[in-house]
Amino acid sequence: MKWFGKKTPPDLSGRLTHIAFIMDGNGRWAKHRGLPREAGHAAGAKNLRKILTACRDRNIHMVTVYAFSTENWRRPAHEVEEIMRLLSDYLDEILRDREKNRFRVRILGDLTPLSEELVWKIGDVEEQTAQYEGFTLNIALNYGGRQEILSAVNRLLASGVQEVDEATFSAALYTGGMPDPDLIVRTSGETRVSNFLLWQAAYAEYAFVKTPWPSFSVRELDAIIEDYLKRNRRYGGL
Ligand code: IPE
Ligand code: IPE
Ligand code: MG
Repeated sequence: MKWFGKKTPPDLSGRLTHIAFIMDGNGRWAKHRGLPREAGHAAGAKNLRKILTACRDRNIHMVTVYAFSTENWRRPAHEVEEIMRLLSDYLDEILRDREKNRFRVRILGDLTPLSEELVWKIGDVEEQTAQYEGFTLNIALNYGGRQEILSAVNRLLASGVQEVDEATFSAALYTGGMPDPDLIVRTSGETRVSNFLLWQAAYAEYAFVKTPWPSFSVRELDAIIEDYLKRNRRYGGL
């Protein structure tokens, strides 16, 4: 593997543990090619596999991808169905290849409106991959940062607690027990967070690139990581 022209990649451990992607621009990628939006989602799903492999090769331990937001239900039914179908196929593939790939999968989001079959499959994938340590893929599905915060609040209230601290609150989120994202990358030129990891991103670094997700390349990923490694994360200190 080549890394900025050098043979060996730098050791990222401790400096870049968790990277998150707002995989945006599938629709525009397709439109640009005269294809239906669904073709953009298929191309995006394919690119996810490639980027994921690159992240593992670079010794990143956790990748979180924004696959479907709580607001994405506003889209036409056939587009929503196609996204769910692609996701379901991907889960099948992960399950089938789990012994070869050996990574853990977690789904972050409110599963209640999803089909019974999909919910069942999610449970299966999470259970069957729970043993794999070292690399975790989190798929944010029907995920919204505000929804996540409110559901944590309601869960905590239902448990009868009177007061919570940061640690207790963090533990009640979908990401409970996970490290916060170090770096959040959004593709396709939009410079907003669109309700993604609102609590967890308190000290995340951001990178925004113009490339739509289906054409986002490993070379661009490397450039983002190189830039990230030069940043001084002060966390309010000096
Ligand atoms: C991101 O691509 C995928 C999802 C939101 C599910 P978009 O579908 O938002 O693509 P654009 O932003 O319309 O180009
Ligand atoms: C954010 O992209 C959600 C996902 C990538 C899944 P959107 O395309 O839904 O965000 P907006 O509408 O541009 O804010
Ligand atoms: Mg979009």
